[in-house]
Amino acid sequence: MDAMEALLSRKSTAQIEEPAPGSEDLEKIFQAALRAPDHGCIRPWRFIYFQGDMRAELGEIFCEALLKERPDATEAVLEKEKNKPFRAPLVIAVIAKVQEQSKIPVIEQILSAGAAAQNIMIAAHALGYAGIWRSGSPCFNDHVRARLGAYGEDQIVGFLYLGTAKSHPPMPDVPAAEYVMEWQAANG
Ligand SMILES: Cc1cc2nc3c(=O)[nH]c(=O)nc-3n(C[C@H](O)[C@H](O)[C@H](O)COP(=O)(O)O)c2cc1C
Repeated sequence: MDAMEALLSRKSTAQIEEPAPGSEDLEKIFQAALRAPDHGCIRPWRFIYFQGDMRAELGEIFCEALLKERPDATEAVLEKEKNKPFRAPLVIAVIAKVQEQSKIPVIEQILSAGAAAQNIMIAAHALGYAGIWRSGSPCFNDHVRARLGAYGEDQIVGFLYLGTAKSHPPMPDVPAAEYVMEWQAANG
């Protein structure tokens, strides 16, 4: 798939199954992540991936976090939280590892990590996979942050759920003109 086709045809899907990208495709996907624009070349990102049984450990972390926020959470709610990482065969946590002493503004470092996340989504799609970028409360929870090594200004920019699409949702048809304007000369 060429780059324009990948950009124009990517569509999120929450219905994901095996197979996930194998190690060769994963390497390509992470190389694509590293091509995100990065002011100062400080590489302000970390990627932690969970597959197979390791997803249960992420589910435990989500569960512990939920219990800290809602000690009265029911078993059913906790069970649902625990199973969240099993919604796809591969989950990648993308973390903006912010260098607070850098002259590069924090927002730029976080945007870089976001661009890396999008490169992952596009690269996975170009290789024939599908998925969805999710945040939700775990991204902002101190327990999850600490367990994934995010401190201070660091941000978990998302959890990327990846695998193979069970079905292909329809593509939206939105004219770019709704969001785009050409600047007109002020005194023209
Ligand atoms: C930072 C970020 C966080 C997101 N978090 C969620 C989420 O927690 N749950 C969700 O259903 N969609 C979330 N989305 C939106 C989906 O990834 C997706 O973009 C949306 O469903 C629209 O589908 P599309 O990408 O095919 O246009 C998030 C997107 C971004 C950029």
